[in-house]
Amino acid sequence: MAGPQWAVRCQDIVKTYDTGGQIVTALNRINLDIALGELMMLVGPSGCGKTTLISVIAGILDQDSGVCELFGKNLQTMSSKHKLAFRAENIGFVFQTYHLLPSLTAAENVSLPLIINGMKRKPAERKAADLLDRVGLGSRTTSLPGQLSGGQQQRVAIARSMVHSPRLIVCDEPTSALDHQTGHNVMNLLKEVALHEGRALVIVTHDARIFEFADRIAEMDDGHIVRVRDQGK
Ligand SMILES: Nc1ncnc2c1ncn2[C@@H]1O[C@H](COP(=O)(O)OP(=O)(O)OP(=O)(O)O)[C@@H](O)[C@H]1O
Ligand SMILES: [Mg+2]
Repeated sequence: MAGPQWAVRCQDIVKTYDTGGQIVTALNRINLDIALGELMMLVGPSGCGKTTLISVIAGILDQDSGVCELFGKNLQTMSSKHKLAFRAENIGFVFQTYHLLPSLTAAENVSLPLIINGMKRKPAERKAADLLDRVGLGSRTTSLPGQLSGGQQQRVAIARSMVHSPRLIVCDEPTSALDHQTGHNVMNLLKEVALHEGRALVIVTHDARIFEFADRIAEMDDGHIVRVRDQGK
């Protein structure tokens, strides 16, 4: 049987939040497909729904209606146990606010996805240390997040998102705290790890300096996708 055609397939996704009486429609009938091997960027003004959309795509949030498929699988119809295992194996996520565990070192944070997937601690931490080296933090593997700068913490989060070679990496503003050169290095590394055949990368960003890395750029406004620009690669 042929494998899935799409990494991500969003059809008519609606997501509302109930904030104590006031209903906010964060996603208003979103349709978006992301191809295998594609780097899709998501842009748009603050509050337009970018984080909400990638959270639905990654199975972190449930939509109210519509269907989202990842590599041909509908996460919403999986048992919670199956969904957790599927996400742990197939998805890497860089949160806008990093979400590092404060009591674990950089290497321990990065090794977590490997340990969750069954790797032993020592080899997992070795692999984590290698990746930290590649994001320029080889000398800080034993530092706690609180001992690192914002941009260093961001790079730990990026290393953690890719350490288990997931099929989909989703990043929320991955270069917001990085200088131009470091941002470029991180983007090149993300591409190298994420864009093997059959994988995909979704990046939310305001950072025009990295637009050149995208295959397509989806522009969002007020819960809608208003335009998808093909970068002609
Ligand atoms: N947990 C929540 N409860 C209530 N409303 C929320 C919640 N999370 C997001 N929203 C609302 O949903 C809308 C979309 O929010 P979202 O975080 O997806 O925007 P965003 O495009 O990521 O913005 P930013 O660029 O500022 O990160 C906003 O109006 C926001 O206030
Ligand atoms: Mg956001």
